[in-house]
Amino acid sequence: MTLDDHLPALLARARALLRLPGGPPADLAAAEIRPAARAVLELHEGLVGDRALARPATYAGRHLGAYLLWWWPQTYVKTRATLSMVSLPRRPRILDVGSGPAPAAIAAIDLLGGEATCFDASEPALAEARALGIERTTRELPLEVFDLTLAANVLSELPDPLALVRGLQGTVAIVEPALRETGRALLSLRDALLRAGWSALAPCFTQAPCPALASARDWCTAEVRWNPPRLFRQLAQATGLRADEVLSFAPLVVGRAAPPLERDLWRVVGVAPAEKGKQRVWICGAEGRFPLVRLDRDRRPHNAAFDQLRRGDGVRVQGTERRGDGLRIPPDGRIERA
Ligand SMILES: C[S@@+](CC[C@H](N)C(=O)[O-])C[C@H]1O[C@@H](n2cnc3c(N)ncnc32)[C@H](O)[C@@H]1O
Repeated sequence: MTLDDHLPALLARARALLRLPGGPPADLAAAEIRPAARAVLELHEGLVGDRALARPATYAGRHLGAYLLWWWPQTYVKTRATLSMVSLPRRPRILDVGSGPAPAAIAAIDLLGGEATCFDASEPALAEARALGIERTTRELPLEVFDLTLAANVLSELPDPLALVRGLQGTVAIVEPALRETGRALLSLRDALLRAGWSALAPCFTQAPCPALASARDWCTAEVRWNPPRLFRQLAQATGLRADEVLSFAPLVVGRAAPPLERDLWRVVGVAPAEKGKQRVWICGAEGRFPLVRLDRDRRPHNAAFDQLRRGDGVRVQGTERRGDGLRIPPDGRIERA
């Protein structure tokens, strides 16, 4: 299934929670747009700034209805993108921690198959997870064994995220907002987990301490292109919030077994605006974080993939030369999406 397949159920539940009059199965009717937009804006304002609404009691009633319409689809897309960065077994036993109404769990099931248990402090949020097809929900962290644990947009709401993640097993896939503060907190968590014996599976191709933490200005985000559903565009227009075709997020996948070290594999962690005569992206890999530069005159079919690189892409780079401005791709250097 894809996001579009879930829209009728999401909208039906949002209509019930927001007491909207009803309309077509996957779009808001004209009379629904204003009240739905007001609810989205109220929650948006409470989740930014001092984040007064970033707590379990928020996830009920109107706020939960707004969550289903605006945040649920974004978490779904970001979780699929995070899981696509690694190779995972089919049909895993999945635990979704801080699941809310289960966008991450449902994204994982759609991608990999399997069954999910949703854990959250909010019973109304779990009721929505059940309404969307998740059978197993709990308000206590389950003790059984899972192959894949998801934690989407929840670690930054916890007082001690390290204590939670250290106690998990299997592969743990984390999605956090693409903000500097939460993004850097995630990188510190990554380093603490690696010191405790975990391995970074994505986005990192290195088990060394995160090089982005060396400078207070750096953190690490990925992006995913999506085609926002029409109801999302309706709400963007009515709220003034942006319905960007690119979503940014901070992903981290950790596990117990270290992947083999491949020195020519890199993650794109930044893309510079076009410059005269050359293009530049930042890449992170076994040797650290560097600008990767290709002069326009050195563009060849075997390095043309450089033109399409986006934050979060894995890339295999061969034949670079170290220069003053970073790693240079010479005419015979090769670039392949990994
Ligand atoms: C921002 S929502 C994220 C929901 C969903 N994972 C997503 O990414 O769309 C945070 C969720 O974490 C839950 N949460 C916060 N603190 C929690 C805690 N200590 N124990 C369990 N759940 C918690 C909240 O109830 C809420 O559903």
